[in-house]
Amino acid sequence: MNSHVRVGSVELVHPVMAASGTAGHGAELSAYGALDSIGAVVVKSIAATEWAGNPAPRVHPIAQGMINAVGLQGLGVQHWIEHDLPAMAAVNASAVVSIWGRSVDEYRQAAQLLHDGLERSPHRSTVIAVEVNLSCPNMHGHGIFAHDIAMSAEVMAACSVLEYPLWAKLSPNTDRVIAVAQAVHEAGAEAVTLINTVVGMVLDPETGRPALGNGGGGISGRAIHPVAVRTVFDVHAALPNLPIVGVGGVTSGWEAAELMLAGASAVQVGTATFADPRACFKIAGELSEWVTRHGLTEVASLTGLAHRGGLTPP
Ligand SMILES: Cc1cc2nc3c(=O)[nH]c(=O)nc-3n(C[C@H](O)[C@H](O)[C@H](O)COP(=O)(O)O)c2cc1C
Repeated sequence: MNSHVRVGSVELVHPVMAASGTAGHGAELSAYGALDSIGAVVVKSIAATEWAGNPAPRVHPIAQGMINAVGLQGLGVQHWIEHDLPAMAAVNASAVVSIWGRSVDEYRQAAQLLHDGLERSPHRSTVIAVEVNLSCPNMHGHGIFAHDIAMSAEVMAACSVLEYPLWAKLSPNTDRVIAVAQAVHEAGAEAVTLINTVVGMVLDPETGRPALGNGGGGISGRAIHPVAVRTVFDVHAALPNLPIVGVGGVTSGWEAAELMLAGASAVQVGTATFADPRACFKIAGELSEWVTRHGLTEVASLTGLAHRGGLTPP
């Protein structure tokens, strides 16, 4: 069974990757499995400069998943290049660097710093793509970037200094996801990553106040899997030539296959890693087994099959 897939110009040894913010900043998961056996590790989103994130508590369990408001804590692009990239190179991981900002200018700065730092780094070939996280809150009063078609395109254009394939990570909390996907593609995104968390809130039964320090947060895990399947399905139906990376509530090989059948070329595993740090490796194995069990020889052949009559065309 051939497990190689392509996301635009990027070739992955396996479609399963670790999702941003759930697998550390670099090589942390190498304690639990061989990072060169999965497609890539998408690192925690980093900004141009250090950022403290939100007040605690930052995570809370829900039925079938969790809610978080970590707030994109991180030490910045330069620190990542000096400290985390070498560790990833040492274990032959493939890195997808996720960047974020609070304004178009901050995205531009993060992209420029990443470009300059990677140009000087002996480990630049460890990076295979850059995922631009457009689904984070913007503190200049614009809400989530990926809910604004023009601004999403502006951010992607601002990141064009990067000589790596760009993926745009979009939000499911809008009815404009197809228009946003098209706009970011036209502005330079080679692929879109669908989906980031679904906005929500949990109250504490003792205090009657929000359980998270930030108030609201983002829901992830199994609870949002059908939202991810629907978003991937709709975007693939409207834009069949736009490569999609599917993410949201994948806890098994079947759920990874489901996102591919809906239209994803590859998938990411997030919250499942908090329950079991070996989840990415386990799910990658299960997906390969599932494909073989269904008589297929190429995992890539799953992409979009649900739109073409499924596994058993009429
Ligand atoms: C604790 C936590 C932190 C996250 N941090 C980021 C982040 O820094 N950047 C990003 O693009 N997505 C981040 N995400 C979103 C995940 O990458 C993923 O899109 C989402 O959780 C849905 O996938 P899942 O249900 O498999 O977790 C985070 C999710 C969680 C649970």
